[in-house]
Amino acid sequence: MAQKKSIITALLIAATGVGIYLAAGTTPVRAAGSGPAYTSDGKLLQPKGYRNWVFIGSMVTPNGLNNGNAGFPEFHNVYVEQANLAVYRKTGVFPEGTVLVKELTLVREPSHPDGSADEASGRGFFEGEFGGMDVTVKDSKRFSKTGNWGFFNFGHHPLPYATSSVESSKDECAGCHIAGASKTDLTWVQFYPVLRAKN
Ligand code: HEC
Repeated sequence: MAQKKSIITALLIAATGVGIYLAAGTTPVRAAGSGPAYTSDGKLLQPKGYRNWVFIGSMVTPNGLNNGNAGFPEFHNVYVEQANLAVYRKTGVFPEGTVLVKELTLVREPSHPDGSADEASGRGFFEGEFGGMDVTVKDSKRFSKTGNWGFFNFGHHPLPYATSSVESSKDECAGCHIAGASKTDLTWVQFYPVLRAKN
């Protein structure tokens, strides 16, 4: 009897072991949007799921206030993943693999020359349709020549954006960030109260 019991116990232990082995052997599924993903020739794939990340702020540089030709027209809505935001708040630097997405939205039905409109809440700038996407990726090995961040543009136009993007040159992007935001991990922290907040 005792022998039978121990055989059963041994079988159970073995079965559990196989279960654990199988679970551990399963290919890990990476959550949508976590970390950068590249094509085999080094283009950054368009980040997925970023509109479900933490929304850290919105700047607005309308064409109407920039001679009809703003560098980054209209609203700039910026997103970062929660896990990376948590590290930033603790340490003041973004962890390797952080992706920041800046999505542009056009102002909705501007009715004044400056791009503003009169709505129920007052005269101001109101968000309309999506209009473009810029992305930065922190990777101190891959992007050591541009301050440890890579810069990518997926188009300044209505949806759909490009599915992948080649790294932009230092002149196109990084140069301005290095000149203006070198002390804050190349990110314009002064414009994001959510980044500076402790919770
Ligand atoms: C002339 C200066 C300048 C150039 C050139 C520039 N940026 Fe920026 N960028 C800014 C400023 C200022 C902000 C923050 C405020 C804002 O969005 O207006 C910003 C914000 C960003 C953000 C949000 C995160 C952050 O760092 O605050 C991303 C992502 C970004 N830029 C990507 C790019 C990419 C990609 C390019 C090139 C296609 C580029 N930038 C070129 C000035 C610049």
